[in-house]
Amino acid sequence: MAARIIDGKAIAEAVIAEVKEKAQQLLETRGVRPGLAVIMVGDNPASAVYVRNKAKKCEEMGFLSQVHRLDGSASQDEVAALIERLNRDAHLHGILLQMPVPKHLDGAALQEAILPAKDVDGFHPVNMGRLALGLSAFVPCTPLGVRELLIRSGVDPSGKITVIVGRSNIVGRPLALLLMRKERGGDATVCVCHSRTPNLGNLTRQADILVAAIGSPQFIKGGMIKPGAVVIDVGINRVEDSTKKSGYRLVGDVDYEAASEIAEAITPVPGGVGPMTIAMLMHNTVAAAWAQSS
Ligand code: GUN
Repeated sequence: MAARIIDGKAIAEAVIAEVKEKAQQLLETRGVRPGLAVIMVGDNPASAVYVRNKAKKCEEMGFLSQVHRLDGSASQDEVAALIERLNRDAHLHGILLQMPVPKHLDGAALQEAILPAKDVDGFHPVNMGRLALGLSAFVPCTPLGVRELLIRSGVDPSGKITVIVGRSNIVGRPLALLLMRKERGGDATVCVCHSRTPNLGNLTRQADILVAAIGSPQFIKGGMIKPGAVVIDVGINRVEDSTKKSGYRLVGDVDYEAASEIAEAITPVPGGVGPMTIAMLMHNTVAAAWAQSS
């Protein structure tokens, strides 16, 4: 039987509706409209699409939305000066530096320059550290979206063998920290695998919940999945496709056709984790606005 499809688009819409309500309450009770500034350095085409979508969603939500596009040759000091200015702007509750930044820049130092209270991406060491310690923190949007997808599709990670393939600072690492937390949607038994893991299939085949966040198209084959597992595909990879007007199509990190014959439930690409990332960014932005206006 084909796997149940976890509809990220529908779940994201439900999250967005709740976030809109919280934003409305904030406006009515405190007269505050959430504000988000997005900084993009250079012209990475995938980043340009993400930034456009983030700004569009902000506008749809009625938030104050700013996009700061800097030339790919911008210096560390120029970007840092912009961040300092945005840190001081009381109308902006969230600041996001779109990653990756050009190689000549120290992206980690720039992320650290963002005030932790405005770090709606959850990438600042203070937020990452608080996440690791089980304290309240801004949690990176994609991991937060993955957990929300699990909860809202009836999958409780508690105790489950959860194998995450990929250890990036954006997804794998914070997701492991989040799913380990002693709380609702947490308490999972987490194993993080990566490019140096030997016999990867032996580990992934044990997973009740398998999360693919490697950034390699269709890397997870059907034979690497335990029958009845829940498969969450975080990958968004462009592969050439001459039948498409754009010349490419999007595929995940999982061989979807094969996986859907074996898994109990699976997220599609597109329409799975992707829409959740933006929904959780809106969630974090409203949370930041509430916290800064109290
Ligand atoms: N690049 C890929 N994903 C993300 C994200 O969630 N936030 C930022 N800032 N950059 C990214």
